[in-house]
Amino acid sequence: MKKIGIGLLGLGQIGGGLYEILTTKRKQFEEQLGVSFEIARIAEKYPNARRKVRPPKSIMTTDAFEVVRDPSVDVVVELIGGTSFARTIIMEALRERKHVVTANKALLAEHGDAIFELAHKMRRWICFEASVGGGIPCIKGLREGLVANNIESVYAIINGTTNYILTQMTESGADFAQALKGAQQKGYAEADPTLDVEGIDAAHKLAILVRFAFGGRVNFGDIYSEGITRISSDDIAFAKEFGYVIKLLAIAKKTKNGVEARVQPTLLPKSHILANVNQSFNAVMLRGDETGDVMFYGRGAGPHPTASAVIADLVDISKKDIDGPVDDETVIRALGSRIAIKSITSILSRYYLRFYVIDRPGVLAGIAKILGKYKVSISDMIQRERRAGKVVPLILLTHEAPEKDIRAAIRVIDRQSFVKGKAQVIRMEEAGT
Ligand SMILES: NC(=O)c1ccc[n+]([C@@H]2O[C@H](COP(=O)([O-])OP(=O)(O)OC[C@H]3O[C@@H](n4cnc5c(N)ncnc54)[C@H](OP(=O)(O)O)[C@@H]3O)[C@@H](O)[C@H]2O)c1
Repeated sequence: MKKIGIGLLGLGQIGGGLYEILTTKRKQFEEQLGVSFEIARIAEKYPNARRKVRPPKSIMTTDAFEVVRDPSVDVVVELIGGTSFARTIIMEALRERKHVVTANKALLAEHGDAIFELAHKMRRWICFEASVGGGIPCIKGLREGLVANNIESVYAIINGTTNYILTQMTESGADFAQALKGAQQKGYAEADPTLDVEGIDAAHKLAILVRFAFGGRVNFGDIYSEGITRISSDDIAFAKEFGYVIKLLAIAKKTKNGVEARVQPTLLPKSHILANVNQSFNAVMLRGDETGDVMFYGRGAGPHPTASAVIADLVDISKKDIDGPVDDETVIRALGSRIAIKSITSILSRYYLRFYVIDRPGVLAGIAKILGKYKVSISDMIQRERRAGKVVPLILLTHEAPEKDIRAAIRVIDRQSFVKGKAQVIRMEEAGT
């Protein structure tokens, strides 16, 4: 029986879930996989805190360095989170010639170059299935199942919190603040939801997907991200009237003029498969040049789904010669030349535009004239029944237009005396259909 010594850093939500599965399914893994995962050491800030799992005190410590330097540890599993200490301790683990498994998307997005370089130099495995899409095996899908393909695009719903909030807004007509509160009460949103609702968490995951899908280094700062805090229940309702739903999409695609990568609220046709990914579910749709679209769907977070992905990595490592030097072609490819990501202002898109305007003659013509000046053409519109002299919504869909022209036109429109407040601008996607 092969024995793998595990050093676990962090016994929080995911660390606790991992401990639970590894202990309850120990026999199953031994019988089916021929491997015995021994949790040799655990580092946790407050070892005596009340928690669901109760590992023996003898393997607990508050000092993560003790764990990564322990000779009985073959694989360090980092489930602490954050980008500072987690970076230090993973680098130390690699220098100690330990293999590393992590679920830390923020760390890999922001410090991926240094970590993958050191893993490559030390010839150790670095595995991170749980960092994107929780329990969904999309990294393994990319690394193995789609290996014969050049990936052309990624369209993904990779933040369960925002997908849950947008689903509630769509189904019940709730506004953003109400839906966020509901998500917090149900445990789908943190007390401080900034990373999720501002699209940063999804951008972290997209940075990892782009690196491995397109093969090359990624500057996290080059990925544009826009969250859902400005989406109103009106926008959701108007989008519905046009036959669309609003989703927070992570998008990356190779175009004739370069690579696009961004996280944004997006109008998607309601018949699109991603438009039907609801509640806290995640989905990652990859287009391979040989396979066409392939979609991974499932639970993108939570202790057990995420720990399941961590265990998949542990099993992968256990099947290798863990003492020998590692040549991981995928990591080598992802350390290739930096991928030049186009600036958001140089993309082309269709747009949903929502204005609040004073209902008086000539307003629609005035807006159309400004859009026309910037060569933006209108494909559809909704204008509510007349309420002379009152503020009414005016919604326009555009044909494809350069983002810089839309921005310039909106700057002018927002200054018109008949326009109240700032325009809402949401990009539209056919998402590969
Ligand atoms: N939660 C999810 O559904 C999910 C899904 C995918 C990926 N992830 C990723 O998985 C990682 C862990 O997330 P989580 O939700 O399990 O977080 P968590 O519940 O906050 O767990 C982290 C644990 O690590 C402990 N810790 C912090 N610094 C430490 C240190 N220096 N030494 C030892 N222990 C330390 C924390 O203790 P204190 O609480 O006392 O600080 C906490 O118990 C993160 O990178 C996260 O992004 C999470």
